[in-house]
Order: sequence, then structure tokens, then C-alpha cells
Amino acid sequence: MTDTTSLRDLPEWKALEAHYAKLKDVHLRELFARDPGRAEKFSLEAAGIYFDYSKHRITAGTVNRLCDLAEAAGLREKIEAMFTGERINLTEGRAVLHTALRAPKSATIVVDGENVVPRVHAVLEKMETFARKVRAGEWKGHTGKPVKNVVNIGIGGSDLGPVMAYEALKDYGDRGLTFRFVSNIDGTDFAEAVMDLDPAETLFIVASKTFTTLETMTNAGTARAWALKALKDEAAVARHFVAVSTNAAKVAEFGVDTENMFGFWDWVGGRYSMFSAIGLSTMIAIGPEHFREMLAGAYEMDEHYRVAPFEENLPALMGLLGLWYNDFFGAQSIAVLPYEQYLKRFPAYLQQLTMESNGKRVTLDGRAVDYQTGQIYWGEPGTNGQHSFYQLIHQGTKLIPCDFIAFSKTRHRLGRHHDLLMANVFAQAEALAFGKTAEELKAEGVKDWLVPHRTFEGNRPSTTMLLDALTPAALGRLVALYEHSVFTQGMIWRVGPFDQWGVELGKALAGRIAPELEAKDEPRLNHDGSTNALIRRYRKER
Ligand code: F6P
Repeated sequence: MTDTTSLRDLPEWKALEAHYAKLKDVHLRELFARDPGRAEKFSLEAAGIYFDYSKHRITAGTVNRLCDLAEAAGLREKIEAMFTGERINLTEGRAVLHTALRAPKSATIVVDGENVVPRVHAVLEKMETFARKVRAGEWKGHTGKPVKNVVNIGIGGSDLGPVMAYEALKDYGDRGLTFRFVSNIDGTDFAEAVMDLDPAETLFIVASKTFTTLETMTNAGTARAWALKALKDEAAVARHFVAVSTNAAKVAEFGVDTENMFGFWDWVGGRYSMFSAIGLSTMIAIGPEHFREMLAGAYEMDEHYRVAPFEENLPALMGLLGLWYNDFFGAQSIAVLPYEQYLKRFPAYLQQLTMESNGKRVTLDGRAVDYQTGQIYWGEPGTNGQHSFYQLIHQGTKLIPCDFIAFSKTRHRLGRHHDLLMANVFAQAEALAFGKTAEELKAEGVKDWLVPHRTFEGNRPSTTMLLDALTPAALGRLVALYEHSVFTQGMIWRVGPFDQWGVELGKALAGRIAPELEAKDEPRLNHDGSTNALIRRYRKER
């Protein structure tokens, strides 16, 4: 494939267009009726995930054509390039090696002539020593009291992964410790997080890849002032603040002893960093052994992605199915619906992973794309979503493919709860796919005028992922599954999933506006009329 040809000119893309034209009006009812073996044919099991994709608007021919497109896009070579440390993050000139974070100690992954695996494991060991001390009450605060509260200060990838993993694995955690996550520059976030905490028993983890992010640095400064107001001694910073960063100079400048810094590297993207030292809060919460299990789960998915043929490759199939709806059916979004309360922050975590990665409008060589790229990811845990937005998914005018995520076992077997939860997830996927026809309603005696309102068109696609239980390993597998699905799509769309230039403009403009808000004298405003008026009104009312 030469990059001067548009993706849409590829024969494999054209084959999909022609195929779509034939399949677009075929109903899932018909596809299931035609082939009694459909459920088996379109389900896979790998890395502990049973992946049922039979309720998708596909045939075997669709899968073949999508896999042909992946081959034509050079996906196989690109996967290898990522895993072996090539600088595939072109706009930042960096390798992309979050997979090295979960590679076993015996692996060799070379970047700039150096095997990075020993460095990864050295940091893991340093994290473990620290985590064990905190968990055992041996990490004492400035006054000699053991640390009981851990506050992670970070934003984006330095927050969403840690808070998601903390919530997901809460039941594996040490309930004797309190965990809080502060991300927003809105002072309310910090104020609420520490309101009931004793500074003498509180440890702040300042998590920032760059250690320059406005939100995190502002919150860290406020945390420092809050701690020192009570502890009244600069020396307390060393006992109450640790840092996770790639930027040792900035960490030292902030006043954290670099002895208490846990490093990672520029080849770990922020939204791909929850398995690096950014996961320190996770490790303190769940313990080093469980953290290692999570890494092992992710590694299992990495290996599967690297070697499995695309037809049997979970992340490749997931990415290709998303692309099928996004680029051919014109679906704008995907709903992620975990039927597991512990995964309540998983959709929020996925939003950064997917949308900051593939929300791009130019290809890596700078040309505007003439097809749709990154989808909108959103969702809520089931069954809450059912009583909120599912109506639109069932009977609205938009096509919204759904990812259902469910677990056969629960950590809390209370009466019928789990069976009812599972009944709901299976029922939703069934209802979306098969719907309810006017004939069925009439046969039930539903009055004619009500029939259109009660008709479910069906033919609404979904994947059901069924896992045994939400263990640390299962979480690792799920995260790696989505990471690689994002990669699959990014490589086919030819965008760069590992930069995020789109967040820069807003940051720069905020930097210009902040002094205008704070200026004593009326500033000369040079924005558009709307922004000028908003600034003036705020200055008057603040
Ligand atoms: O939102 C932009 C971004 O750079 C994210 O990619 C990143 O996860 C987040 O800010 C936080 O960055 P840092 O870890 O450097 O503070």
C-alpha cells in the first residue's frame, strides 16, 4: 500500500463498499435463521474472554473482507513495529511500548540500543517495596503516624487509568486505606477530596508524565500548602509527597526528593500508562501480587494480538467491527455497557484511550482524511443505562453498536442479584438484535394505534464479552483488548494514535485568558466579541 492512494481507493475498501450495499438491509433475524451455527461461527475465546460477535451485521464474507483490509493496511507489520520499539509515534519521534510494561523479565525489547525490560522491572520492584511499606503501615508521615490516606493527583492518563483500576479492583484492595483521586483544576475537587483527611496521615502521589500539566501542578501546589499548613515544616514534604513522572528535573524543582520518584519513559503514552509507575496507587490499593496478575493478564492479550490470525484475533476483530459501522454504516458512536458495578469508570477511561488516540483528521503524512475516523465512546454500567438512554438505542433513529461486558461470577452473591443482572444483559443484546415485529404485537392483541410505538425494529448490533470474573488479570486483558483495538483502527485509518495535539490550543488560550481574569485593572481584551463579553461578565461577578 502506498500512502499516496486514498484508503477509499484500495480494492479492499471498495470490496467492503460493494458488500455493504448488499448487506445493509439484511436483518439479523434473517442471518440467524439462515445459519443455525451462526453463534458458534461468530464467537471466539481467547485470553479468558468469550467474545460473541454473532449479533453483528456481518457474514463470513464481511469478516474476510475486513481482514483483507487489515492486511492491505499492513497491520501485521505495524503490530510488529510497535512491539519491537520502532518509532511509530512519528509526530513526536517516539517508540510506543506500553506492551513492554507487561513483558516478562526474560523479554528483550531494544530502544536506542538498550534493552528496556530491566528498567521496567527495576521500577516495578521499587514500586513494590514502597507499596508494601505503605500497606504495612511502615511508611510513616512527618509526625510518625502511619499513612492511612493516599491521594493521587493527576489528570487524563495520569488519573483515569488509576481511578478506573482502583474502582474495578476495590474488593481486592486494602480497606484499611483510603484512596482519593484529584484531577480537576476546579478547586472543589481538591477541597472535597481532603475535607475529612488528616494531613499527618495523608500521602500525595503526584502523577504526571510531563510534570508540567497545569491542573496537576496547581493541585499539587495546593496539596503542599494544605499539608504544610498543618505539619508546619518543609521537611514534611519528603514524607507526604511522592512523584510519578518521566521528568526528574521538574520533580526535584517541585521539592520531591527524586529518591521518592517512580519513573517511566517517553515511550509510554499518557493514556497507555496505567501499567507503568502511574499505577502506583493501584499497586498500593491491591498489593504487588495482584498488580503483577493484572500485568500478566495484559501480557496474555498482547501475545494473542501479536500472533493470532486476524480472523481469530480479538482486538483486531473488535477494531474492524467498529470500523465497519463507523465507515460504512455511518454509525457515530459505540456504547460500552459493563454489567459490573466495579467497572463504573471503565467507559470514562475508554473515552480518553479511544478518542484522544483516534480523534484525528489528518493521516500521519499530514493529508486530510476523506473518511470517518475515531468513534465516540460512551456508556454507563448496566442496568442503570437501561432506565436512562437505552430507549434511544432500541427505538431511536441512530445506529449505536454496543459492547456488553459481563462476568459469570460476582464478588457479592446476594440472593438473585447476579442471575437477574445476567438475565438483563442477555435480554438487552437479544432485544436489540431481534426486536419485536408488528405482527407479533398484533398477535398479542396490541391495539393497532399502539403497534408502531411498541414495535422494535431490531437489527441493532452488539458484541457480548463474557468473562469468568473481574479479577486483576481479567482487567488487564480487557484494557489491553481495547488498547489494541484502538491501534488496529488507527493503523487502518492511517492516523497517529499516540499524539494529542488537539489539546494544545485550548491550553494556550487558557494561559492567555487567566491573567486577564486576574488582572487588577480592566485588561484590554482582544478576543472575539463573545469571549470578551464572557470575560467582562465574569470579572464583574467573581
Ligand atoms: O490531555 C492531554 C494530556 O497530555 C494527556 O494525553 C495526558 O494523559 C494528560 O494530558 C496528563 O499529562 P501528564 O501526565 O503529563 O500530566
